[in-house]
Amino acid sequence: MAVKITETILRDAHQSLIATRMTTEQMLPIIDKMDKVGYHSVECWGGATFDASLRFLKEDPWERLRKLRAGFKNTKLQMLFRGQNILGYNHYSDDVVEYFVQKSIANGIDIIRIFDCFNDLRNLETAVKAANKEKGHAQIALSYTLGDAYTLDYWKDTARRIEEMGADSLCIKDMAGLLVPYEAEKLVKALKEGTKLPIQLHTHYTSGVASMTYLKAVEAGCDIIDTAISPFSMGTSQPATEVMVETFKGTQYDTGLDQNLLAEIADYFRPIQEEALKTGLLNPKVMGVNIKTLLYQVPGGMLSNLVSQLKEAHAEDKYYQVLEEIPRVRKDFGEPPLVTPSSQIVGTQAVLNVLQGERYKMITKESKKVLSGEFGQTIKPFNPEVQKKAIGDAEPITCRPADKIAPQLAKFEEEIKEWKQQDEDVLSYALFPQVAMEFFKYRQAQQTKVDVNAADTKNQAYPV
Ligand code: CO
Repeated sequence: MAVKITETILRDAHQSLIATRMTTEQMLPIIDKMDKVGYHSVECWGGATFDASLRFLKEDPWERLRKLRAGFKNTKLQMLFRGQNILGYNHYSDDVVEYFVQKSIANGIDIIRIFDCFNDLRNLETAVKAANKEKGHAQIALSYTLGDAYTLDYWKDTARRIEEMGADSLCIKDMAGLLVPYEAEKLVKALKEGTKLPIQLHTHYTSGVASMTYLKAVEAGCDIIDTAISPFSMGTSQPATEVMVETFKGTQYDTGLDQNLLAEIADYFRPIQEEALKTGLLNPKVMGVNIKTLLYQVPGGMLSNLVSQLKEAHAEDKYYQVLEEIPRVRKDFGEPPLVTPSSQIVGTQAVLNVLQGERYKMITKESKKVLSGEFGQTIKPFNPEVQKKAIGDAEPITCRPADKIAPQLAKFEEEIKEWKQQDEDVLSYALFPQVAMEFFKYRQAQQTKVDVNAADTKNQAYPV
């Protein structure tokens, strides 16, 4: 059967390589051509794009989505959604999660890939139900990781539970590039035994094995793979779209995609990549093969964040020390997968442990939340000593964490009422209160400026 392709250039590829800094203006000129390719879907929203748009690019992420939707007339648009964390870094109440799903679909999203950083399926229930209700495609992603608790039986059983939850498809989300080719073959076969759902594989090129992993996975029955157009492929991003298309050409897995059209799309993105290299936005360090990722289990996005975090602290020489501390912190935290937000939480704690010269001398607020069960259940128990250090004698949470969160939407509506220009604003504010408020103020100032200019023109046209 033909293997299907999800193109990640508009989300994960630039998130992994250039800290999510691609602007809507850079995307729009090429989407007409991209729409003609015949991708299974284009991943273009969610993940870090929302935060980065508001915070760094001063763009309304909802406006971006509407523009992309208007341009992509034939292609399904896909987003990445962090379960009860939505696109933020904390748990939100169910009413916020439901409203976010509703508005994402209303503004143009077809497929929502939903995951939880601990694979605690209770944290996915609300988002999946909401996607079902809004007639969106709910894809549940397993956050892939390594460790003795993560057996094929564990994955198979989780796949079965995912199908029962009402998912339309299942994704293996290998954010760190840990899935090696022959393991992928075994994993896909096991999942196929656990579920009838279509299986999609998402990986990163970080450790250099990703395109081979796709080959073995597809041979084992994987239905869809995630790739990035070549100028923003490989390194901490995905395997190149053109390479995978060529690999399967003339076989039973032939994607049917037009290599000439892909070449034109690559030609469009190449100068953007070259410019990013020139300005330093694209660090050549993340472009190479980093086999150490297999030892430290650190996802690509986390590696590039780490580099900039250490640069700011003038401690770039501590890079490898921090990489070694990360798996130790992960173990103390119940051995969760490392993916947003657990990757940031574990990463920041590891940086602190190294820079302070003493482990857990300082414990971040987020680390305390994890150790008190506010993010849900990890596959293994927390290190009791570290937990005690973090939360003292406080009683840890064991229920679905969102059950403890009262509805929040009405309060957020109240707080932004004087700034609100569209329904979706309350969601931007709910996720990133300070950043969204700054954006609202910026937006208003821009509009006032435009009004003043318009008034000036008017005065010139009709001199008194
Ligand atoms: Co990814």
